[in-house]
Amino acid sequence: MEADFRLSRHAEFDLGQDEVVAIARLLHASFEDYPVDKIYFPQPPHVRVLGWEKNQLVGHVAGVIREVLVGDHHMVILGVADLCVEADRLRQKIATVLVQQLEAIADKRGIFSGGSVRREGFFSGDRISGARRQMYLAGLSER
Ligand SMILES: CC(C)(COP(=O)(O)OP(=O)(O)OC[C@H]1O[C@@H](n2cnc3c(N)ncnc32)[C@H](O)[C@@H]1OP(=O)(O)O)[C@@H](O)C(=O)NCCC(=O)NCCS
Repeated sequence: MEADFRLSRHAEFDLGQDEVVAIARLLHASFEDYPVDKIYFPQPPHVRVLGWEKNQLVGHVAGVIREVLVGDHHMVILGVADLCVEADRLRQKIATVLVQQLEAIADKRGIFSGGSVRREGFFSGDRISGARRQMYLAGLSER
């Protein structure tokens, strides 16, 4: 990670046009089948954390609030979606920092870390397991 690396946090409605363009470029470079002309799939996220070096977007993660059923428990989670890092910046812990930041957002609201949720809503309990565009949990509301 470069010394001038910085993070920014955004609610969806507050994104500026420059940020939208930068997010679109990184998502489409990172996921070859990402829907054209979209910066979310299937629904807009509730929060995004962006990683920047100077004015270049080098990392992105989105957080999506969902209520899921785990056994008998209804839990509100902040799922991790569309985690991606610029190809020439891999293995510099940028994704790690982005997810930590999302976890801090969840923590601040009293939700806690745990497994993962597939797009179809199936709770797997694994932290990071497999298929692209799975949603990863940043938190469960039962603490
Ligand atoms: C997955 C991705 C976000 C990781 O970003 P990153 O900034 O390189 O990840 P980090 O540097 O924080 O890696 C942290 C740890 O995750 C593991 N990891 C990361 N990339 C890995 C890889 N390609 N293979 C195996 N382990 C990997 C390693 O344990 C790594 O620690 P280490 O470098 O000390 O061994 C990045 O490879 C990417 O954008 N891929 C394309 C998009 C994608 O598939 N996103 C995930 C699904 S939404």
